[in-house]
Amino acid sequence: MRVAMIGTGYVGLVSGTCFSDFGHDVTCVDTDLSKIERLKAGIMPIFEPGLDDLVARNVAGGRLHFTTDLAEAVAGAEVVFIAVGTPSRRGDGHADLSYVHAAAREIARAVKGFTVVVTKSTVPVGTGADLEQIIREEAPGADIAVVSNPEFLREGAAIEDFKRPDRIVVGTADPRAREVMAALYRPLSLNTAPVLFTDRANAELIKYASNAFLAVKITFINEMADLCEKVGGDVQEVARGIGLDRRIGSKFLHAGPGYGGSCFPKDTLALTRTAQEAGTPLRLVETVTTVNETRKAAMGRRVLEALSVPPRGATVAVLGLTFKPNTDDMRDSPAINIVQLLVDRGVKIRAYDPVGMEEARKVLPEGIHYATGAYECAEGADALVIVTEWDAFRALDLDRLKTQLRSPIVVDLRNIYPPEDLIRRGFTYVGIGRGDLSIG
Ligand SMILES: NC(=O)c1ccc[n+]([C@@H]2O[C@H](COP(=O)([O-])OP(=O)(O)OC[C@H]3O[C@@H](n4cnc5c(N)ncnc54)[C@H](O)[C@@H]3O)[C@@H](O)[C@H]2O)c1
Repeated sequence: MRVAMIGTGYVGLVSGTCFSDFGHDVTCVDTDLSKIERLKAGIMPIFEPGLDDLVARNVAGGRLHFTTDLAEAVAGAEVVFIAVGTPSRRGDGHADLSYVHAAAREIARAVKGFTVVVTKSTVPVGTGADLEQIIREEAPGADIAVVSNPEFLREGAAIEDFKRPDRIVVGTADPRAREVMAALYRPLSLNTAPVLFTDRANAELIKYASNAFLAVKITFINEMADLCEKVGGDVQEVARGIGLDRRIGSKFLHAGPGYGGSCFPKDTLALTRTAQEAGTPLRLVETVTTVNETRKAAMGRRVLEALSVPPRGATVAVLGLTFKPNTDDMRDSPAINIVQLLVDRGVKIRAYDPVGMEEARKVLPEGIHYATGAYECAEGADALVIVTEWDAFRALDLDRLKTQLRSPIVVDLRNIYPPEDLIRRGFTYVGIGRGDLSIG
């Protein structure tokens, strides 16, 4: 089956590559010429484990192509995915659909024969209907169906998630489109992934509801962590205890510095805007968005409070900058809020991230020392903060770390160390939600 993927970012590149790995003929399109040129030269524009090999294999197999020529890719395709960005619109928090609308107009001018246009971008309920109208206005004779097929992959585990998803959601009322989508996903359903066929509005809502639910779950355990600190509990134990209940489940119950990334912050906000406009505010989700933003700033203050010297002129080592491990994505990473707050208070920052430094330089304030590794990062610092739980930080030589630091203070925002191990070695340990152990 011939597929055009419009937008070659985290989602477009991974899904396009995986479709080609299942034997489809895929052309990935992007307006960013340098991205396409790098891909043609075998250079990945993003860090995603296993992606470079998978791209190379499918390019060599003649099933995966990269171009900036949208019209040519669309004209030859039976299925055209829209996988462009839908960031928060400045000012009101609605999803900014300008990229999606622009892509739809270009697609309309290029389609030939019956074509299924699929929104993989996360778009508010009703967008599929709007896109259908846009395309029909632009190309009145076009034989198209607009389908919603939201993506649930997680950065850092994107290939595995795409190939073995919990479910595939396809929203359409058009029988021809349904047949095409079933054929497209047939190789994945051999992996026993259930395909949920529903209508377009439901599919659009399922995506936002899923992200909002997960954001609620994370925020719930984060607030439980705050309570644990006040009353002498250990949130890790509490999370384990509640997670064993199969109605609750153990995933997304890791207390931390607040959720970030390219999806949860913008999607929760966009969902609350949709709900407000519909006259049915989602007060729970509204609260979650506020609590999460407040939390990120609170984490910066937690670091300041842990310091044994005044902030102005103090040095803090920050380990982990990306919003989670195994990605270079810095979008809405809690590290941004934490570093900014510390810098505003006159703290000098030394920072290290295994793959995110290039992206971090684009969004973090000036004047940061970017270290070559975890130990060099800790050198001469008055405290060390673990912001992202990269594997490389999980088994550091604590004695060596102690000799590097000016003051042996560790603020572990991901609870990756047993507090006893650090306290025994003479560290002051500050974790998350560990009431009676968070002091040295
Ligand atoms: N990143 C994730 O983990 C994830 C997961 C699920 C869903 N999503 C959703 O998928 C969508 C894409 O997210 P992303 O993280 O891949 O974004 P991204 O910013 O990494 O990539 C978007 C790409 O689209 C390109 N683009 C924009 N307009 C274009 C046009 N008219 N023609 C061709 N290319 C164009 C951009 O140059 C960019 O390379 C968003 O709606 C997002 O919410 C993302």
